[in-house]
Amino acid sequence: MSARISLTRYLVEKQRVHDRIPSDLRLLLEVVARACKSISHAVTKGALGDVLGSAGTDNVQGEIQKKLDIIANEVLIDANEWGGHLAAMASEEMEGIYVVPNRYPQGEYLLMFDPLDGSSNIDVNVSIGTIFSVLKKPEGAGVSEQDFLQCGHQQVAAGYCIYGPQTTLVLTVGDGVAMFTLDREQGSFILTQEDVRIPEDTKEFAINMSNMRHWDAPVKRYIDECLAGKQGPRGKDFNMRWVASMVADVHRILTRGGVFLYPWDKREPDKPGKLRLMYEANPMGWLVEQAGGTATDGKQRILDIQPKKLHQRVSVILGSKNEVERVTGYHP
Ligand code: AHG
Ligand code: MN
Ligand code: MN
Repeated sequence: MSARISLTRYLVEKQRVHDRIPSDLRLLLEVVARACKSISHAVTKGALGDVLGSAGTDNVQGEIQKKLDIIANEVLIDANEWGGHLAAMASEEMEGIYVVPNRYPQGEYLLMFDPLDGSSNIDVNVSIGTIFSVLKKPEGAGVSEQDFLQCGHQQVAAGYCIYGPQTTLVLTVGDGVAMFTLDREQGSFILTQEDVRIPEDTKEFAINMSNMRHWDAPVKRYIDECLAGKQGPRGKDFNMRWVASMVADVHRILTRGGVFLYPWDKREPDKPGKLRLMYEANPMGWLVEQAGGTATDGKQRILDIQPKKLHQRVSVILGSKNEVERVTGYHP
């Protein structure tokens, strides 16, 4: 039997053998993984742990917070604030940035997260997850929201942890994508797939079809052509999947290919989309690119968008290269 490689060993080797990550970043990723493990335990307890249902509060996006949204946010902050590796954090569930308190040393990294992605699936026992993105703090004293407003191509690490039938941590530090499955008996993440590759072609798309009447012409054209199947211009039948947890939809695409779309639509024309650039689209976009896929907003590469604010929203089209390029090409 080949030796099992834990996340700890993987990261140590990334630092020592490949000189790919500094020790502070290694520590940071270990801490994020530990926090995800703890969130995974809370998720698994469900009703027994009193973690289901609404918290009765709204977040900065005007969405009703679930108990688990708040629990996961607190777990991530508590785990990360004291290690000395971070200067500040930002989260979907907090309006402003969270600066590491003075009583702890300040590090040189910035951590952003969607603590609990797929909130509408918590209470129905469907896969959910945590998405994270790591940036280097620009030089200079102090830390401000401005320091976070870096393009996605400046990320130094990104990933997600999916809480499904298995808990799996998916990570990139810029040299491909690796997947680690949580071994609950041992309490550690074990490397179960390296060099993840997304096939360039696919017959599977993911979009919330109930919004069809609100879509813009290029998205409508693309989906109409898929739906036309063998007799249509694409000459093949397509399958549809929509989990409504971005982590689960992206995990499927990293595993067997596909295209995921959450485009701008006419429901709220002033909003550029539903998903958030900094802690959803950027980390997922980078993972997809690192696995050979493509991620755009219909017009440009997601990772090249200059963020103007922390909770900025964006249209997202990502996955199998040839499909994403096709939909993007339909946009004027
Ligand atoms: P969150 O739970 O963090 O707010 O994100 C939910 C997102 C994303 O995970 C998913 O792809 C999408 O919302 C689902 O939206 P619909 O309910 O409109 O299908
Ligand atoms: Mn989300
Ligand atoms: Mn969320």
